[in-house]
Amino acid sequence: VEADSPAAGARLEKRDLERLFTASFAGLTAGGLGLPEDIWNEEFFRANELINLYTDFQVWTVLDRLGLERGGLEGGRFPPSRRDSIDWLLAKASGSALVGKGAPPAGYGLRLRQVILDEHAALAPCLDLVDLAASGFPAFLREESDGRSILFAPATHALWERYFDQKNPFYQPVNRLAASAAAEAVPGGALQVLEVGAGCGSGTITLLEELGDHPLRRYTATDISPGFLRKARSRVEEWGTPEGIELEYRLLDLNRPRESWRLADGGFDLVFAVNVLHCARDLVGALSALRRLLAPGGVLVLGEGLRPARGRPVHPEFIFQLLDEFREVAVHPVHRPSWGFLDGAGWLESLARAGFGEIKAVPDPGRLARSYPEHTIAAIVAR
Ligand SMILES: C[S@@+](CC[C@H](N)C(=O)[O-])C[C@H]1O[C@@H](n2cnc3c(N)ncnc32)[C@H](O)[C@@H]1O
Repeated sequence: VEADSPAAGARLEKRDLERLFTASFAGLTAGGLGLPEDIWNEEFFRANELINLYTDFQVWTVLDRLGLERGGLEGGRFPPSRRDSIDWLLAKASGSALVGKGAPPAGYGLRLRQVILDEHAALAPCLDLVDLAASGFPAFLREESDGRSILFAPATHALWERYFDQKNPFYQPVNRLAASAAAEAVPGGALQVLEVGAGCGSGTITLLEELGDHPLRRYTATDISPGFLRKARSRVEEWGTPEGIELEYRLLDLNRPRESWRLADGGFDLVFAVNVLHCARDLVGALSALRRLLAPGGVLVLGEGLRPARGRPVHPEFIFQLLDEFREVAVHPVHRPSWGFLDGAGWLESLARAGFGEIKAVPDPGRLARSYPEHTIAAIVAR
C-alpha cells in the first residue's frame, strides 16, 4: 500500500497529507505572486489544503452512501432541483486527490481528522461543519430536508459562532485581508462605515482593529439575521466599544429593495462586507445599490472566497450549497454563470456593470489561479 493511498488508513501521517496537497507552499511563493505574506501565508495555505482534503473525503462518503459512483444516479432517485448539487459532488470528486485510489478503509476519516487536528486544533469548527453538511446531504439531495434545518438547528449555533471567529485560522485571514485593504483605502477625516452581513462580528472587530487610530464617526453593523447580529453586538461590547463612535446594529436584507434599508445615499465613506455579496440574489443590483450609499471619495471593500476558474467547485461550497440563499441567485453567462463563489474575473465584471470605475483585488486572483487551482481569498476594493 502506497503511503499516499487512502488504503494507508490508520498509518496516515502528516507527511502523507502533504503529498495529497494541490500545490506546495514553497512552489507557490517561488512564483512571486505578490501574496500578502502576513495574511495569505503558509498557515492559511495549510488550513485551506487540510480542509479541502477532509471535504474531499466527505464528498466521497456522501457519493458512496448514495451509490452515485456505482451509477446510482440512474432511475431518477433525486429531484431535478438537486441535480446541480449532484453535479457539484461529482465534479469535486473527479478533481480530488482521492480519485482513482480505491475506497478509503474503515477509520480513514477519523484518522484524517485526528492528523489535521494534531497540526491545528483550531480547525475543529471547520471539520465539524463539513461533518454536519455530510450528515445532512442525503436528505437534502432527496428534498426530504432543507439546508437551513440541517445547518442552523438550535444545537449548531455555538458551532457557527466558533467558525465565524477570529481564532479560526481558516476564516480569519479573509477578515484580515479585507480589513487591512479597507484601512489602506479609506479617505481621510472622520469615517462613516456601513458593514453588510456582519454576522457574528469577527470581521467587525478585525476592521475596528485595523482602522486603529483612524477617526470614526459612525459604524453601522447590519445583517439579515437577528441572532447573528446579537452575537456581533455582544462580541464588540466584550472587545471594548471604542469611545466617541456612534455604533449601531440594524437588520438589513440585501435582497430587499434599498428603500427598505433606510440609509441615506452618499452617507458612507466605507461599505464593508466579508463573504456576503456572493449570496445576493441580484449581484449587480445589490452592488449598484451599495455604490449609491458611498460619499464622494468613498470605497466599497469586500472580502471573498474565490473559485480559481469558472465551473471549478471549491471546498467551502460543500457546506454552503445546502442553503437556499447560496443557491437562489440570478445567473448570467458572463459574470455569474452559477451559484457559488465567483472567480476573480466574475467580480471585476460584476463591479464594472454596477458602475464602479476603479477596481482592484489583493492578491491578484488571475495570477494566483494560474499557480494555485484551489479555493483562495481576496480583498476587492472598488470606487
Ligand atoms: C459568511 S457570513 C459572514 C460572517 C461575518 N463576516 C463574520 O465575520 O462573522 C455571511 C453573513 O451574511 C449574512 N447574509 C446572508 N444573506 C444576506 C442578505 N440577503 N442580506 C444581508 N445579510 C445576509 C448572513 O446572515 C451571515 O451573517
